[in-house]
Amino acid sequence: MGRPAIRIATAGDERELAVIDHATWSPQVAPVPLWPLETPFFNDQTSPGNVLVAQEAERILGYVKLRPSPMPASDGHVQEINGFAVAPQHQGRGIGHLLLDAALQLAIERDARRITLRVLGSNTRAQAIYLAHGYRVEGRLVGQFLIHDHYVDDVLMARELRSENEEWSR
Ligand SMILES: CC(C)(COP(=O)(O)OP(=O)(O)OC[C@H]1O[C@@H](n2cnc3c(N)ncnc32)[C@H](O)[C@@H]1OP(=O)(O)O)[C@@H](O)C(=O)NCCC(=O)NCCS
Repeated sequence: MGRPAIRIATAGDERELAVIDHATWSPQVAPVPLWPLETPFFNDQTSPGNVLVAQEAERILGYVKLRPSPMPASDGHVQEINGFAVAPQHQGRGIGHLLLDAALQLAIERDARRITLRVLGSNTRAQAIYLAHGYRVEGRLVGQFLIHDHYVDDVLMARELRSENEEWSR
């Protein structure tokens, strides 16, 4: 199989993205109970312009969400990955790597200085791919979630985009 194309999502991708989101839920990777399949993928928190999709032969295989940090006093210099999934039958093909490369390029185009994300302590596979892409653990909210009777950490990771020598002030 060839290399999937990466593009910005459109509203018409709604159903395929909702199916992937639903299919990749598990208590190891998500701090929320499984939602109904009919739940819209796009909403106030997630607009198509903040989603990159991997597409092959007219099918969407995976996505990564990248949005400006919604925290006050952030003007887009911090972008956050707030969703990342590849359809189970296409995992292990390098699509996750392609999506993270594309998210990095999009963050650079947005003139970001940092990309942040949060990942469950139990999601060791996602942590490994983030580490491979230069994300570092910056913090850990210990026992933040109680999932199936186990306390699970919320791991805060980030990647710097500017060189160490560059001034931080504008
Ligand atoms: C995390 C995720 C997006 C990675 O997508 P992917 O397309 O499978 O990733 P890749 O194929 O690019 O592989 C990434 C790494 O995982 C490894 N991997 C792939 N399939 C694996 C499997 N079944 N078990 C363990 N490792 C596996 C790959 O070997 C690769 O490691 P490498 O770079 O050392 O070779 C995907 O596993 C997923 O959708 N998980 C569920 C949702 C999730 O956890 N999202 C992140 C929330 S923070």
